[in-house]
Amino acid sequence: MRILLNEDQLQAGVERLATEIDRFYGDQRPVTVIAVMTGSVVLFADLIRRLSMPQRVGVIQASSYRGGTQSQELEVNETMMIDVKGRDVLLVDDIFDTGRTLDRLTGLIRERGAKTTKTAVLLHKHRQHEVSLRPDFVGFEIPDEFVVGYGLDYLDMYRNLPYLAVLEPSEIDATKSESER
Ligand code: IMP
Ligand code: MG
Repeated sequence: MRILLNEDQLQAGVERLATEIDRFYGDQRPVTVIAVMTGSVVLFADLIRRLSMPQRVGVIQASSYRGGTQSQELEVNETMMIDVKGRDVLLVDDIFDTGRTLDRLTGLIRERGAKTTKTAVLLHKHRQHEVSLRPDFVGFEIPDEFVVGYGLDYLDMYRNLPYLAVLEPSEIDATKSESER
């Protein structure tokens, strides 16, 4: 694996992200911060502790990577969602790739009556996006490669790595065999 961002770089990026979000919302009015599970789990824990405003915290689950590195049909699970009606909502995800996940979730949060909806991502992949939505807060711009670690997975593995690494094609194959164990 080739390390793209080490622990120190990631922490500096989260700090930048928090500063930008703080500057936008201020430290007085409550914000409803929602983690897009499961990829944002590590980022989320680091980010919310750095934000200054009062927060309501919730999660929503969306999955599009059905056993591969290519995104497929998106599945959304709202059973653990909290009330967003009339609230200022910040959706937090690990990465903006095609953009379909955050586009769909932003629409859903609006339908549920949120007053405002913004999005924050740790990573923004340099590629052609499939939607007109763009994330409001971005930690890092990265090349169009498949990355794992710091919450991001391949076949549900590697989320626990404290750094972000590029998964090479040979490692993708190796992980596939390994995951059958
Ligand atoms: P999008 O809907 O294509 O923007 O993809 C967003 C979701 O796909 C993210 O929440 C990730 O879970 C997943 N994803 C996209 N690119 C990568 C990657 O390089 N590594 C791991 N997961 C990724
Ligand atoms: Mg995800």
